[in-house]
Amino acid sequence: MMYENIDFNSIDLTQEPPVSEPERQYYFIAKCRQYVKEQEELAGHPLTAAVVTFGCQMNARDSEKLSGILEQVGYTLSDSEEADFVIYNTCTVRDNANQRVYGRLGFCNSMKRKNPHKKIALCGCMMQEQNVIDKLKKSYRFVDLIFGTHNIFKFAELLCRMFESSGMIIDIWKDSDQIVEDLPVERKYPFKSGINIMFGCNNFCTYCIVPYVRGRERSRKPESVIAEVKALVKNGYKEITLLGQNVNSYSYGFPELLRELDKIEGDFRIRFMSSHPKDASHELIDAILECKKVCKHLHLPVQAGSDRILKLMNRRYTTADYLKIIDYARSKDPEFSFTTDLIVGFPSETYEEFCETKELIKKVKYDNIYSFVYSRRSGTKAAEMEDHISDKQKGLWLRELLLEQREVSTAWLSRFVGRTVTVLPTGEGRTGADYLTGKSDEDMIVEVK
Ligand code: SAM
Ligand code: SF4
Ligand code: F3S
Repeated sequence: MMYENIDFNSIDLTQEPPVSEPERQYYFIAKCRQYVKEQEELAGHPLTAAVVTFGCQMNARDSEKLSGILEQVGYTLSDSEEADFVIYNTCTVRDNANQRVYGRLGFCNSMKRKNPHKKIALCGCMMQEQNVIDKLKKSYRFVDLIFGTHNIFKFAELLCRMFESSGMIIDIWKDSDQIVEDLPVERKYPFKSGINIMFGCNNFCTYCIVPYVRGRERSRKPESVIAEVKALVKNGYKEITLLGQNVNSYSYGFPELLRELDKIEGDFRIRFMSSHPKDASHELIDAILECKKVCKHLHLPVQAGSDRILKLMNRRYTTADYLKIIDYARSKDPEFSFTTDLIVGFPSETYEEFCETKELIKKVKYDNIYSFVYSRRSGTKAAEMEDHISDKQKGLWLRELLLEQREVSTAWLSRFVGRTVTVLPTGEGRTGADYLTGKSDEDMIVEVK
């Protein structure tokens, strides 16, 4: 059953809600429509809702699902936090993402005092942490609804509960093996979209909070993924990004999935992220190179250039293993594009070990790097390790790394000079008023007149 074919107004609300999903949520969407209508009459204006997103593409995708439900229940979507309903979809991968949410909440509360109909909700990764919930319960009583990452599919039902109660509603699940398909979604762009192929992570890198807040790995069935991509292509989408914390452990075979998607007819390109080096195979590289629609680019987060640090991080590969994948790809295509994620200042990292990271980026020649200073996340193994590096030191190393990368990329990107590349423009450029910005197949930012 596709939700587009559902007539929500014909659902009989005198009956008990269905037990199975997604039918249960269809019932609550219908019910919620009535609440939104009632509220609208009280407020004397059409109700608006804003979804504010922090964090990675997983969260961006979840926000599209939240927006889809909000639209179906009768809200007009807005970008402004002055909206009648504001939901913050939070991230906790680093402490700064976490702190920003508290800042926004304070601001939003000042607006709630002026608008008695205003409701505030919180969801996403931060909500899976007990210390966050304790803090919200104690000092942020004005928040109306709180839920986590595992029960986001129940958003319509939770909205109903919010309208039926006057206090703070909290519903957090520890984990879930459920994947609910066929719920409404409002995609941010009409020409590019991320789609989940899997959820959660089993890797437990010692610095990382994601496995604790996103639960264990679950893969969507290839038929569901293929059907979603086909529908997007039919509707004119030009770029589809397959999302997972480690797409290489997709249960039904990732290279096979790429090959199946490549067979779909139409003018579009496929990207994916992220790929864990421990599972990146020659077969993956072969599939990328052989599939016409798959971008010739691999985001392969290495995190560090020292084997001792990689071991402490529980990454389960050495720099030599990592370089083997790079060498294989470049033996097939000497200009193959790689990007990466890097962490500087992991507990006990020495300056010499940090310099090994600098050496590695010179060796690999990345088109681009996403680098972060290590952020201590309580509950992770690394948080308990000794010899944490000072913020000042980490900041200096980060600057040094970025300077190194600037030199690397300036030289390496010159291979594109004089060449024609395919760009999907996504918005106004920075070069000037008549420029558009977009990305090439290689994930390089390009501005076009
Ligand atoms: N699953 C992806 C992978 O392993 O490649 C990464 C997902 S994570 C959301 C994105 C990046 O955030 C990681 O690759 C890592 O560089 C960074 N990160 C994760 N935990 C961090 C921490 N505690 N401090 C700093 N950066 C962190
Ligand atoms: Fe975090 Fe590692 Fe999982 Fe990536 S693979 S989400 S870094 S635990
Ligand atoms: Fe993504 Fe942040 Fe959660 S990076 S998975 S939104 S902790």
